[in-house]
Amino acid sequence: MESHQFIFRKYVPEDASRCTEITQSTWPVPDWVAVKAEKRMLIQSYVEISVENSNWAEVACESKGGKVIGMLYGEIRPGSKRSFAFTSLLTELSMFSRMMLTGSLKESGNRAMTFLRFILTEIKVALNNPRSDAYVDLFLVDPEYKGKGAGKGLMDRFVKDAIMQGATSISLYTENTGSNWRFYEKYGFKKVNTFKDNGTSFYYNKKVTGMIYHLNLKDTVQKDTFSTQD
Ligand SMILES: CC(C)(COP(=O)(O)OP(=O)(O)OC[C@H]1O[C@@H](n2cnc3c(N)ncnc32)[C@H](O)[C@@H]1OP(=O)(O)O)[C@@H](O)C(=O)NCCC(=O)NCCS
Repeated sequence: MESHQFIFRKYVPEDASRCTEITQSTWPVPDWVAVKAEKRMLIQSYVEISVENSNWAEVACESKGGKVIGMLYGEIRPGSKRSFAFTSLLTELSMFSRMMLTGSLKESGNRAMTFLRFILTEIKVALNNPRSDAYVDLFLVDPEYKGKGAGKGLMDRFVKDAIMQGATSISLYTENTGSNWRFYEKYGFKKVNTFKDNGTSFYYNKKVTGMIYHLNLKDTVQKDTFSTQD
């Protein structure tokens, strides 16, 4: 696959608006959570908190015009012994603090229940997350540009930097709400754990399974093409 129609560069704060649009079109906020005017603010908070918690953030742009069409925020902390679930928990806590302060989440009963369920999910993530010294926090490509190589281009750059900095493995958390996990399996990530995602199941009112993926960088050789192990 070629990804020559895209350019990749470091994230800058001016990208926040486009990254919010991309996130909002992928993960729409349900009507019961917030009124229309607040939905964008919620997603923007999530995007900003995620980038603040990461130490590696890049965007993919159209080569003509420079429009941002995807992003990957992650962490590379070679030698780190801590679980990256900590970052995920921090993001959720920051999100809910903002929701409480701004009065988002229409019903206070819903607010408390949503909070508890998301915390339960975070505890499961923490218990099931293998130790790794690199972590993918947020990885999205604009739905209109999916399947054109931008995601692989972003992941290749993250993996390359992780290897160059001496990291030994990458882990990430994802859900079965879409088919994005196929991307990870194609890339060589191995599924190491699954469990019910209580927070997202409640949020979308359907059973959602959480999945933890892991990529051993010692076995990973940077290639121009995906492995054909699937
Ligand atoms: C996952 C995601 C970032 C991948 O980005 P992308 O630009 O669409 O991926 P690419 O075009 O680089 O795809 C690379 C390969 O993976 C395959 N692939 C990507 N997404 C796939 C999917 N959903 N199902 C099956 N295969 C998929 C592509 O077909 C391609 O294979 P090929 O090399 O044989 O052609 C993107 O689909 C996305 O934003 N998904 C929704 C958001 C999401 O859930 N993100 C993860 C949160 S943790």
